[in-house]
Amino acid sequence: MEKRQQLYEGKAKKVFLTDSEDLLIVSYKDDATAFNGLKKGQIAGKGIVNNRMSNMLMQLLEKEGVPTHFVKELSERETLVKKVKIVPLEVIVRNVSAGSFAKRYGVEEGIPFDKPTIEFSYKCDELGDPLINSYHALALKLATEKEIETIKKYAFKVNDVLKAYFLELGVRLIDFKLEFGRLNDGSIVLADEISPDTCRFWDAKTNEKLDKDRFRRDLGGVEEAYAEMFKRVTGEKA
Ligand code: TMP
Repeated sequence: MEKRQQLYEGKAKKVFLTDSEDLLIVSYKDDATAFNGLKKGQIAGKGIVNNRMSNMLMQLLEKEGVPTHFVKELSERETLVKKVKIVPLEVIVRNVSAGSFAKRYGVEEGIPFDKPTIEFSYKCDELGDPLINSYHALALKLATEKEIETIKKYAFKVNDVLKAYFLELGVRLIDFKLEFGRLNDGSIVLADEISPDTCRFWDAKTNEKLDKDRFRRDLGGVEEAYAEMFKRVTGEKA
């Protein structure tokens, strides 16, 4: 597989073309942003943690029947993925109150829900990724009704699989954000990443935060939290 020119640089990843039209190479950076890019920084080693963790989780999800963009891990920071057209929706599943949910509804963080919730944000940096409901997503032609149904089904399946997986590792999966894409044939696959950047992970015993909230909220111990999650998932030291 030959790496060709850069297609795109995002906040946390670069994407390169390859000699195959259907495949791209994603390269994970240590750059971190929060609040729609307002807060900027670096988290040493984050690119390696997110690449390796995301790839392990995508492979687990494939086995459990959720199709993903994952093809092959190329190196510590680089992965070969299927080219997709991203559905411009951030799909957020929550098991426990935290973050914008707690703020919006004026409740404390850490209240477990009887049933997981799902919500969508419209992926649009200029608008600050506003919350959107499925009727508005349809009106804006961001996805079809059938695609939204498929996305919801996969998102809850991801939650079932990952909640159980992380609990075994002594981690509570509080909430997370997914992105989906369309392959050439129109089918929906899980894309982007699943990492401490995109999930809230709390230690099951102490409720210590082991995710990007340490960076967002200036809690310190950011690199250590990513390294701890890496160790639990891979069994290796970061
Ligand atoms: P929220 O509580 O701030 O809405 O975040 C919900 C989840 O989504 C949390 O696990 C962090 C993740 N997330 C992203 O991956 N990207 C984002 O831009 C935001 C705001 C949240």
